[in-house]
Parts: sequence; C-alpha cells; structure tokens
Amino acid sequence: MKIVVTGAAGFIGSHLCEHLLAGGDHEVIGVDAFVREELQAIGTKNMESFYKHPNFQMITANILNIDWHKIA
Ligand SMILES: NC(=O)c1ccc[n+]([C@@H]2O[C@H](COP(=O)([O-])OP(=O)(O)OC[C@H]3O[C@@H](n4cnc5c(N)ncnc54)[C@H](O)[C@@H]3O)[C@@H](O)[C@H]2O)c1
Repeated sequence: MKIVVTGAAGFIGSHLCEHLLAGGDHEVIGVDAFVREELQAIGTKNMESFYKHPNFQMITANILNIDWHKIA
C-alpha cells in the first residue's frame, strides 16, 4: 500500500514511517515543512534510520499547499 505520512520528520510521524517501512509491505511518502527552523536538525535526525530506504520518498512542503492529485 502507498501511504502518505504528514509530519514525517516529527516525533510521531518519524516513528510511524519507521514502523511502516520495517514491515516491508508499504511505500511511504513523508511530507514535512520543517515549520520551525530548529526542526530541520531534529527532523533530519528523526528520519536518519529510513531516509534512504528505497520505499521512502520525502516531500518537503506545507500540507496546506500540496497538490494531492500529483501524489499518485
Ligand atoms: N522524546 C519524546 O518523548 C518526545 C519528543 C518530541 C515530542 N514528544 C511528544 O510528541 C507529541 C508531538 O509529536 P508530533 O509528532 O505531533 O509533533 P512534532 O512537532 O514532533 O512533529 C510535527 C511535524 O509536523 C510538521 N508540520 C507541522 N505543520 C506542518 C504543515 N502544515 N505541513 C507540513 N508539515 C508540518 C513539523 O515540521 C514537524 O516536523 C507531543 O505530545 C510531545 O510532547 C515526545
């Protein structure tokens, strides 16, 4: 299944991505805008374990501005 995780660099989102990817059955699209500057470093650290996973794709964007139709 293809799953979009919003707030993927955050505490809950990053753990969810990790869990979904560990199962091996899912393609995960993470979306995060790094809304506060300090979150960039924390978010990068949070995503360290799965950022390069072949089934993971990151979209750096505000969920309010995304054209969801393009995420197919
Ligand atoms: N070590 C710990 O136990 C620990 C650490 C951090 C947080 N927490 C707890 O976790 C909870 C919060 O976790 P969370 O994952 O909800 O918050 P979070 O702040 O960790 O993550 C939210 C993420 O959503 C992103 N985001 C926000 N608005 C967005 C938008 N419009 N478009 C795209 N991305 C957007 C932010 O950039 C951020 O990366 C709180 O209860 C907090 O106390 C616990």
